[in-house]
Amino acid sequence: MYQLGKGRSTEFRFLSYCALPLWRSARLEALPRAILGSQGMVVSSAQKTFYIETFGCQMNFHDSEKVVGSLISQGYRQVEREEDADLIFYNTCSIRDKAEQKVFHRLADFKKLHREGKRFAVLGCVAQQEGERIFERAPHVSLVAGSASYRNLPEMLVQIEGGATRVTGLDDRETDQTFETEFTARGNPHRGYITIIEGCDKFCAYCVVPYTRGKERSRTSQSVLEEARRMADAGYTDIQLLGQNVNSYRDPLGKTSFAEILAAIGELAGIRRVRFTTSHPRDFTKDIVDAIDAVPALCDHVHLPVQSGSSRVLSSMFREYTREQYLERIAWMKAARNREISITTDVIVGFPGETEAEFAETLGLLDEVGYDGVFSFKYSPRPNTPALQYSDSIADAEKSRRLQMLQEHQREIQRKSYQRHLGRKLEVMVEGKNAARGQMIGRTSQNKTLNFTTNGVPEPCVGEYVMVEVTQAFPNSLLGRMVEWAS
Ligand code: SAH
Ligand code: SF4
Ligand code: F3S
Repeated sequence: MYQLGKGRSTEFRFLSYCALPLWRSARLEALPRAILGSQGMVVSSAQKTFYIETFGCQMNFHDSEKVVGSLISQGYRQVEREEDADLIFYNTCSIRDKAEQKVFHRLADFKKLHREGKRFAVLGCVAQQEGERIFERAPHVSLVAGSASYRNLPEMLVQIEGGATRVTGLDDRETDQTFETEFTARGNPHRGYITIIEGCDKFCAYCVVPYTRGKERSRTSQSVLEEARRMADAGYTDIQLLGQNVNSYRDPLGKTSFAEILAAIGELAGIRRVRFTTSHPRDFTKDIVDAIDAVPALCDHVHLPVQSGSSRVLSSMFREYTREQYLERIAWMKAARNREISITTDVIVGFPGETEAEFAETLGLLDEVGYDGVFSFKYSPRPNTPALQYSDSIADAEKSRRLQMLQEHQREIQRKSYQRHLGRKLEVMVEGKNAARGQMIGRTSQNKTLNFTTNGVPEPCVGEYVMVEVTQAFPNSLLGRMVEWAS
């Protein structure tokens, strides 16, 4: 789910999971007049520059949009290469060991730039997890800050500019505050993220997130709705609500449940699509399915990570549900009267003690649910987590074998199930163009890629909605031809 796109990106590292195109110029919202020139350009005598690279999940990606907005509001200008920046930010991920190692490789690769006076800052989950140890491993780093401290970024920048070399923002994980800023520099002018809840209190046995992102804290329904309304007014049509566990959203004003806030955003004028991620099966309630069934703008897609098909393994992971309870939630979605809800999931293979028979239960679950997509990972032992006490008993080669087996099994499921779309007319949001193939790239409400040709009709623009008839199905995407503009 959280694999990174290949190649160095210009602004943010692109997440292959969310399959968003990269927008080259960040959209600046709500920049204060003082720093806007007559053409809407940022003007500053000093024009300090920064580069930022983002690893990890959508929440990190969206945090970077807020960090970029805050930096621009402080008079910084974003550049596309480390070499051109005064300040270099890495917004990091620690979910698996490989993700964590990436930042240290990056810091080593660009260490030489420190001699030219450039400053390095490590943000995000590795920053929170490793804390001041990062200064020992990479002495050229000047700032280490976890996500709960970003609201203090302007003060931290002042310290760095004053010559401080070891600035930290690490002690804020118990805060009740969320990181809200009016200076979000959203990278896509049609589809945008809104964080509704930060942190996680679930403490799954394998997971670093509760230690890196701190305790759960929800934004008020009022501030979430205001942000959604502002986005709708600015022309956004597609909104994705974010949280490590969106379903445990609790309105601090006590007014609105998760399903209600979802429906309220779906009913805003101008909003055509609302998605949410990530759901936790324990907190996934039937009223969410009822809301999807009732409100057309709520997308036909739920990502419901299962992790394992074995109730014994789930209990050892502290997931707080059994296979049967998980399947009950699947049954709610399949019973939706007006919608065909596409279901995707995450699976971990080779969790400590997972037997061959338990792994086979997971394969069986994939058949039973008929997922439209599975993000699968080899178990990776993580610092501070309870699963470190279990022996990591399954050899890496065996984890790899199970991973490959699972992926092949799922590919076969999708190869057959994507055929069900043949001949259907589906609405897509246009995401771009593949000039080499002469195809436009679209995304369906079910979050599937549906590429299409226009047969001489003028091509729609990115962000527009059109109806496409599906003519071919592949295991991970669909192909079709545009039939009309969507109403
Ligand atoms: N909050 C979400 C996402 C957590 S991280 C949730 O609860 O589902 C995204 C995925 O990474 C998880 O769903 C899990 O499948 C995987 N993951 C998390 N920790 C892992 C670890 N230590 N080793 C391997 N995969 C892991
Ligand atoms: Fe990690 Fe579990 Fe929280 Fe998801 S719900 S972020 S897997 S602890
Ligand atoms: Fe990674 Fe932190 Fe997200 S560990 S997956 S960036 S919450």
